[in-house]
Amino acid sequence: MLDAVYLYKTALAPELRAEIERLASDSGCGAFEVVKFRRDRGQLSLLHYPAFDTDPFPCLAQSTVLDLHTGLVRVRRYDINSAPVLHRKELLLPLGDRRYREWAALSRQAEEAGLFNHPREIGARTGWERQLALAELRVEGHALVEVRQEVQRHRTALVRYALSTPMCALQQHGFLDGRLRVFDYGCGRGGDLAQLERLMVPAAGWDPYFAPTRPRTPADVVNLGFVLNVIESPIERAEALCAAWGLTGSLLVVAVLIGGRSAWEKHRLFRDGVLTSKGTFQKYFAQEELRTFIEQHTGREPIALAPGLFFVFRNDEDEQAFLADRQRSRAAERVPRPRLPKPERAVRPAPSARQKAAKPDRWEPFRDLVEIYWSRALELGRLPEPGEFEHEQALLKAGSAARVLAHCIERFGEGPLLEARARRMSDLLVWLALACFERRRSSQKLPPRLRADVKSFWGGWSKAQDAGKALLFSAGEKGALLRAAESAVAAQLGVLDGTHALFVLGRAVRSLPGILRVYVGCAAQLVGDPESADVLKVHLQGGKLTLLNYDDFDRPLPDLVERVKVDLRRAGIQFFSYDTPQYLPQPLLWKSRLLAHSDPDRARCERLETRLVNLGFDLDEFLDRPAFQLRLAARGYEQRGWVLRKLNGPSRGL
Ligand SMILES: C[S@@+](CC[C@H](N)C(=O)[O-])C[C@H]1O[C@@H](n2cnc3c(N)ncnc32)[C@H](O)[C@@H]1O
Repeated sequence: MLDAVYLYKTALAPELRAEIERLASDSGCGAFEVVKFRRDRGQLSLLHYPAFDTDPFPCLAQSTVLDLHTGLVRVRRYDINSAPVLHRKELLLPLGDRRYREWAALSRQAEEAGLFNHPREIGARTGWERQLALAELRVEGHALVEVRQEVQRHRTALVRYALSTPMCALQQHGFLDGRLRVFDYGCGRGGDLAQLERLMVPAAGWDPYFAPTRPRTPADVVNLGFVLNVIESPIERAEALCAAWGLTGSLLVVAVLIGGRSAWEKHRLFRDGVLTSKGTFQKYFAQEELRTFIEQHTGREPIALAPGLFFVFRNDEDEQAFLADRQRSRAAERVPRPRLPKPERAVRPAPSARQKAAKPDRWEPFRDLVEIYWSRALELGRLPEPGEFEHEQALLKAGSAARVLAHCIERFGEGPLLEARARRMSDLLVWLALACFERRRSSQKLPPRLRADVKSFWGGWSKAQDAGKALLFSAGEKGALLRAAESAVAAQLGVLDGTHALFVLGRAVRSLPGILRVYVGCAAQLVGDPESADVLKVHLQGGKLTLLNYDDFDRPLPDLVERVKVDLRRAGIQFFSYDTPQYLPQPLLWKSRLLAHSDPDRARCERLETRLVNLGFDLDEFLDRPAFQLRLAARGYEQRGWVLRKLNGPSRGL
């Protein structure tokens, strides 16, 4: 049996209605349209919906509850935002009311649109309006009509004076050296294209708004930069990705915005994103969502470069060459040029004319060629295989590979080649360990250079894989990680927080011991390039990595503005932005500990920090920027660059 019955007042029997109106008048209730009986409690509620007849979903303005046992009267008025909304109001009408059909049709329409699927969310006015907006519907008369939302996609295009983030990534990895053609899909106002022209990179672009008549032409490298996130239709998003991929010869770069919670909160929800006040749409992708989306539509496994930034290679060999090259250590980038031995200091008697004629140096005509050959061998860490040295035909004139090698060793010594080999092997071991962690499909197909590396250094693929696996497993051992962290600290590459975490500069990652590079690399496969972060916190106990970004790391006491936490065990990523009222920027008070002794900033950084300690600061305390400044001011100082200045007093340098 129903406990509560709702009735529109015209549905009441005349005597009952007169009686209730008398009660309402006695209790000072005023107007009411709907009557609610609660039989279980003996209560009568008189509900005032001022727009009951005209508003299809009227809001309750006031309820008056009369207790029929005690005679007590309770009146409640509702705020317009939290006011309860009446749905399916036709159910309250008396039989035969001519409005029933129209109102019932509206309820059916709302039901079909799924508006009543979440009853808890539509009870109050704001929640109800939110559901309508999400369904892109609006109420007109007693009917629902679609909202025609004109999204101003082109208004998202910026005027650029420098390369965009995806183009910078291409440049950093050597794809903008002029050998490859670039196509900018959704090029906006053409800022990137203008920069590429300056760099003499052959490039073209197309945009549905700014350059709709230009042809969409295939290219080695295609950029789809900040396009997917401005498209409000998921189908069109997929079409844009497929079209860009269709033009891609070798490499597609995809960049989108990645937003934290604050980004969502600032704007009105629309479909699976938000509508900004400029009438533009933004879809804030999650990193894994974007990875899956790209994989679904290209059939390739994308490579994360940074949050919201992926490379997608057309073929396996190029993908593996990129992954291996990415592990090239800093030391390998500084391969020394072959140095000729210094001439003997001791003065020797000048050779006689006969001696000179008797012993011509057979290597003299090949001197430059041999140097270039040696330099290539140092770059590879081994002797070049056929096809790996561009002047090999010319060199053959000097002698067989074995003779040339013997001559090189005599001339330059064996040491540099052994060092280069060890360096290259340790870089490739990191690549092998990460390949084993990631299990990419492409790892079965190596380009010729990597095949030659594997054969020369390990004798074959299976031995190389075993070596990679061993390194990967050691990256999971806490003791081994801690020892590697200690050796990194000894090499002035970072600072330890007890046995808990190692802090290192992002730019120092490729100088770390292999085991730490593997640990960081595993996290990087989820989030992107760890070198792009200012500071990394390697959690030595918990299978986590945190990437810390500062407003301008090179300035004194830089402010932490973003923290990205990667949980390796759960494969989860959390973003924290420090520019919200909840999280304020935090100055880094102990930057000097991260800098090597040779760093030119280290001394003045230390002086500033010592000064803070003398003023009673605990450098390890978490202080936000306003709190730091307030505390400094309370001690009578302010920070000016590398200097603490006395307030209202003369400047005091450090
Ligand atoms: C945020 S802008 C990015 C422009 C440029 N890539 C850059 O980074 O400066 C987004 C661009 O995507 C374009 N766009 C919108 N829908 C598109 C679609 N379906 N295919 C390609 N581009 C589209 C817009 O016209 C706009 O110029």
